[in-house]
Amino acid sequence: MDTHTHRVVSPGRVNLIGDHTDYTGGFVLPVATDLHTRLEASPANEVTLYSEAANDRRSFAVDDQEANGDWTDYVKGCYTVLREEGYAPGGFDGELSATLPLGSGLSSSASLELAVVAFLNEIYSLGLSRERMAQISQRVENDFVGVSCGIMDQFAVALGQSGHALHIDTGSLAYDPIPIPDDVRLVVYHTGVERSLVETAYNERRETVEGALESLGVNSSTELGEEDVTDAGSLSELQRQRLGYVVRENKRVLRVADSLAGNDLETVGSILTAAHADIAVNYEASCQELDFVVDQAVDRGAYGARLTGAGWGGAAVALVDADDASVFARSLHERYRAQFPDYESNYYLVTPSDGVRVERQ
Ligand code: GLA
Repeated sequence: MDTHTHRVVSPGRVNLIGDHTDYTGGFVLPVATDLHTRLEASPANEVTLYSEAANDRRSFAVDDQEANGDWTDYVKGCYTVLREEGYAPGGFDGELSATLPLGSGLSSSASLELAVVAFLNEIYSLGLSRERMAQISQRVENDFVGVSCGIMDQFAVALGQSGHALHIDTGSLAYDPIPIPDDVRLVVYHTGVERSLVETAYNERRETVEGALESLGVNSSTELGEEDVTDAGSLSELQRQRLGYVVRENKRVLRVADSLAGNDLETVGSILTAAHADIAVNYEASCQELDFVVDQAVDRGAYGARLTGAGWGGAAVALVDADDASVFARSLHERYRAQFPDYESNYYLVTPSDGVRVERQ
């Protein structure tokens, strides 16, 4: 065991394109952000942790598996899943802080899970690969916290690369880093809309498309063309609508990855904006505030914009000329606040960053 204090920097994620595809084995294209969670800690017998965001210090035993319905569940969940997978790390004494806004759709929970798992992996020499850390963190979410998310967020937080988006095949977990050209910036706009209905709506969408894939007898949405869905008599109208979106979104991820690699920003932008319209109409995962941000972003000169993450509130991402990004973001913010003055909205210029890293102090 390494008894030194370690500092963990664990990013959040912004998904450029490929939303609601990762629970169908589809394609995604997320970026790990410079906005991050920070954990500074050293080994101990029990866990004692201070959370700056919650202004709360808590202690518990490493084998305490009781969920409390608060931020400590993400930590207890890591221990519980690690134990189930045959690892027995000891405790730690530490402090958590973050530049990543919580609950805004930028994966603050995946960021926290990976901070804890990567820290334990390092000081207790668990020998986990980054892919395994991502899978363990997804299990924390699925089996302990009780959110049935896919692998995208945890994978991006674990394996992100500075200056790149990751094109991930969520079926095989094969991935390919795609450079983001230096002359563009990603502007993330957080609408401030409470995402209280997300979980129910998310689970409902997931059931619909999983049921559709099952009746078509395929494991992954990437095996399907649009006509396989439109011509499928075995699917309900709603299943055709939802799965049709997923199949088109997979194709868009491939086109965006190609166009980014070819520095064709106009094409990238127009696909992003088209993706937003599709997810809004056919997946019904948007809301008037997100639609407003996308419309205004395009009107103000973004190459393109779309909601990012699960939707139903949370954040949108716009692809913007780097030179204009700050002025663009301020003017988008002014327009949004004039329209929706009551929300605590905010914007971030995001730099694509490396995945979780642990440094000895
Ligand atoms: C949430 C989930 C992800 C993914 C997105 C939608 O962020 O955690 O697994 O499904 O929604 O793309």
